[in-house]
Amino acid sequence: EKGGYEHFMLKEIFEQPKSVHDTMRGRLLVDEGVIKMAGIWDHIEKFKNANRIIIIACGTSWHAGLIGEYLIEEYARIPVEVEYASEFRYRNPIITDKDVVIAISQSGETADTMAALKLAKEKGAFIYGICNVVDSSIARITDAGSYTHAGPEIGVASTKAFTAQLTILTLIAFKLGKHNGNLGNADFMSLIAELEAIPKRIEDVLSSTHELVQNIAKDFVNATNFLYLGRGYNYPAALEGALKLKEISYIHAEGYPAAEMKHGPIALIDENMPIVIIAPKRGHYDKIVSNVQEIKARKGKVIAVVNKGDTQVSAMADYVIEIPETSECFSPIVASVPLQLLAYYIAVYRGANVDQPRNLAKSVTVE
Ligand code: F6R
Repeated sequence: EKGGYEHFMLKEIFEQPKSVHDTMRGRLLVDEGVIKMAGIWDHIEKFKNANRIIIIACGTSWHAGLIGEYLIEEYARIPVEVEYASEFRYRNPIITDKDVVIAISQSGETADTMAALKLAKEKGAFIYGICNVVDSSIARITDAGSYTHAGPEIGVASTKAFTAQLTILTLIAFKLGKHNGNLGNADFMSLIAELEAIPKRIEDVLSSTHELVQNIAKDFVNATNFLYLGRGYNYPAALEGALKLKEISYIHAEGYPAAEMKHGPIALIDENMPIVIIAPKRGHYDKIVSNVQEIKARKGKVIAVVNKGDTQVSAMADYVIEIPETSECFSPIVASVPLQLLAYYIAVYRGANVDQPRNLAKSVTVE
């Protein structure tokens, strides 16, 4: 059932061209220039009149939510807040019937997310679900939603569900933006054409980086700490890269917005600190170049995720992982793939049980 792979996690990482494609299938109609999502369309007035959108989730799904904030604010210009379900439910939040709440949950069973939704529902908000498991508790309590069609995710560390969540959030942002006029037709058309080709980009990244990342992983088997840095859309991707490493390898890792480095974490940098930096060409590249200079001046070990043909960051980095250039909004999907592989191989070489990491469960049904 692992389809020839050693672990479910590796199988699921390699399934991403298909899971992203399946998540778009029937929804993204590039020839017609349409994104079809019944859950959005049937309630378009709710979204149109929303004061704001509140995204609620935990863990990896919360990271997807942060990227959702960037997407929806950039393309649909609707204010978005992203909150941990566990915080939201206990802090007497302000919610009204003018709010749209989007819950993101792979399992659809996360207790904190469920409780937060019940609270939002009581206060009259409209609740939209993005779940992977059909007919799960969260899918059932929501007013409407879109399933991620990632297929069953068995590995405890979420991989293909995450990129499928990003796919749905991208579709929602583009659809709302097109509808409310903030995303013009020409930009919409070119973005959806690019989105349609993302599964192919993921496939390319899997084949071009798989062996390279395995080799890089070998050099970090004994690392005790890691920093992950990114800017803009790739700041949440850095958080997610760090979470993957912690969960399965038990190496302490922290994700940060690259610009925050100088406000504290820079004190940690010496020749023993590996730093994964996501530095695609589109997205504050010059700023990232200076961050890398600051890291190298302190002898940190840089593992850079860059676009093909990159020169500036690559010249300074100790390890270079190339991904294809995309519009900034798609780069977290593509950049996450080698970071998943890096976490996976470091964990495998440390002899860890990657599919069943200690202390973790696939659905967190207790608070
Ligand atoms: C990360 C991971 C957890 C979950 C979190 C939310 O790899 O598995 O952080 O993302 O427990 O779970 P769902 O999405 O099922 O609500």
